[in-house]
Amino acid sequence: MLGALPPQSGQTRSLYQITPETSEDHWEVEALYDLCFAPGRTALSSYRLRDDVVPVQGLSHVARDGEGILAGAIRYWPVRIGVHKALLLGPVAVHPTRQGEGLGRALIEESLCHAAPLGWHRVLLVGDAPYYNRFGFSRLKGVVMPPPTNPDRVLGRSLLAGAWDGVSGTVRRWVD
Ligand SMILES: CC(C)(COP(=O)(O)OP(=O)(O)OC[C@H]1O[C@@H](n2cnc3c(N)ncnc32)[C@H](O)[C@@H]1OP(=O)(O)O)[C@@H](O)C(=O)NCCC(=O)NCCS
Repeated sequence: MLGALPPQSGQTRSLYQITPETSEDHWEVEALYDLCFAPGRTALSSYRLRDDVVPVQGLSHVARDGEGILAGAIRYWPVRIGVHKALLLGPVAVHPTRQGEGLGRALIEESLCHAAPLGWHRVLLVGDAPYYNRFGFSRLKGVVMPPPTNPDRVLGRSLLAGAWDGVSGTVRRWVD
């Protein structure tokens, strides 16, 4: 499941600056997520894994255009499966007027580049396989997200070869 990523579009890179999220970005990112997701997004079970847990320092990123306008964002939280640690990718969102330009890909690729050097070897998410397959994510069998979560939407990718091998069980909050 080691994902070989195709090269990122240079054009997307030149249109947007992708930088680590800072505290000053926080509420703007929340507003973007509110715009991009259905109402009640924080009621989703995956959010219970984020309650009272600080996102992973240095991995959450924002994309701004040349005028500084927020166009997209991605966040990561730490989680545990048994004794194993993993990254929970998401939410990732691109402003509706900027979708389809490759910015989602750029955010995912750029942020994941920093994960292994920071000591993270595996990443999971709850999402649409047809979108995330292109980034090397595939169904994680035996890894259970808090209910109600469709198991077909629990996807993972190794950042180090074989990092998901033998990892199974319930995904738990980092601090539990
Ligand atoms: C999902 C999202 C982040 C993708 O961002 P983006 O910048 O439009 O993505 P990219 O430009 O990198 O890729 C676009 C491609 O992905 C495809 N795609 C987008 N969402 C998809 C989905 N849910 N399922 C399958 N394919 C999808 C598009 O059809 C397009 O395909 P193409 O390259 O064959 O034309 C963006 O559509 C979004 O913010 N959606 C709302 C929030 C959301 O659903 N977030 C993901 C769940 S955590």
